[in-house]
Amino acid sequence: MPRSSLITGISGQDGSYLTELLFSKGYEVHGLVQYGRRELCDPRVKLHYADLTDSSALLPILERAQPDEVYHLGAQSHVRLSFDLPVHTVDVTGLGTLRMLEAVRQYQRISGRLVKFYQASSSEMFGKVAETPQNEQTPFHPRSPYACAKLFAHWQTINYREAYGMFACSGILFNHESPRRGINFVTRKITLAAARIKLGLQDKLSLGNLDAVRDWGFAGDYVEAMWRMLQHDTPDDYVVATGQTHTVREFLDEVFSHLDLDWREHVEIDPNLFRPAEVDILCGDASKARRVLGWQPKVGFQELARMMVDADLHATPDELSLLEAPRVGDWG
Ligand code: GDD
Repeated sequence: MPRSSLITGISGQDGSYLTELLFSKGYEVHGLVQYGRRELCDPRVKLHYADLTDSSALLPILERAQPDEVYHLGAQSHVRLSFDLPVHTVDVTGLGTLRMLEAVRQYQRISGRLVKFYQASSSEMFGKVAETPQNEQTPFHPRSPYACAKLFAHWQTINYREAYGMFACSGILFNHESPRRGINFVTRKITLAAARIKLGLQDKLSLGNLDAVRDWGFAGDYVEAMWRMLQHDTPDDYVVATGQTHTVREFLDEVFSHLDLDWREHVEIDPNLFRPAEVDILCGDASKARRVLGWQPKVGFQELARMMVDADLHATPDELSLLEAPRVGDWG
């Protein structure tokens, strides 16, 4: 019998890489999708329609999928948007995790099976950072409705582990990107715009804070860490990061110079794209994941930036016009 897995948020960037990883390891993959997102998933995935705001749907899906491992990636994951939709973000990202944990607990009780649970925690929980680099002991100071919701979900995951003995792990993942990244996150927004500028399809790119410092890794590497957490003997929490930091400005330099362009001729600063409270710097110390899980990132900053912009440059004209850059005033 192949091992069975259930992924929430399967139609997102991480869901797609994790799907590939789990198929390569012989798993049966079930995915929880919202109505209208099915076409973004691998056709081999067994799909189940549900919404994380509706707890009535979750237990029946677990009963059908009979998963050995649940990867809970589903969330409203855009930080800037969470300031405009705070209650919705807390409902999906915070309470949605609690609904999923509770459904898994009920399913374990009814079926007598062990289900391992992965929670997609976030480096945004460190927010106004108490120290650099950040590790599993660093105190949290969330700076957005999204980060507050993720922190609630993080502590619920720990509490289900401690209170009910559940095999529940949190991966505190720092920013991770790829050619499949959503177009409203800064890296993909930049690579898509640079490709379109190179191809003569657009001229200007609106951005917010270019001084923000992030620890950017490759999503394909990071889903490997998720899987390793659930294969370890004991459940625990891990920081997953590269330990290397760059500013948004440095990402612009890397991408535009790769295309022989000067970003200063194209970038406009839009005050609407600044956040009410910013996370100035994130830099992760993943030594625990290296030591205990034997995990390490393979793709570096330059390779990541070039991989993303090359993919956008070679997208078909149809894809490029469909992926129109966000408009001024959009929350991207
Ligand atoms: N999105 C966006 N758009 N960000 C911009 C822009 C812009 O036009 N201009 C500057 N930035 C800055 C943001 O202010 C932020 O400091 C930085 O670029 C990165 O923004 P995002 O790419 O939107 O990512 P994030 O760091 O806020 O959050 C991502 O990483 C978290 C893990 O640390 C998301 O994937 C979260 O879901 C994830 O938890």
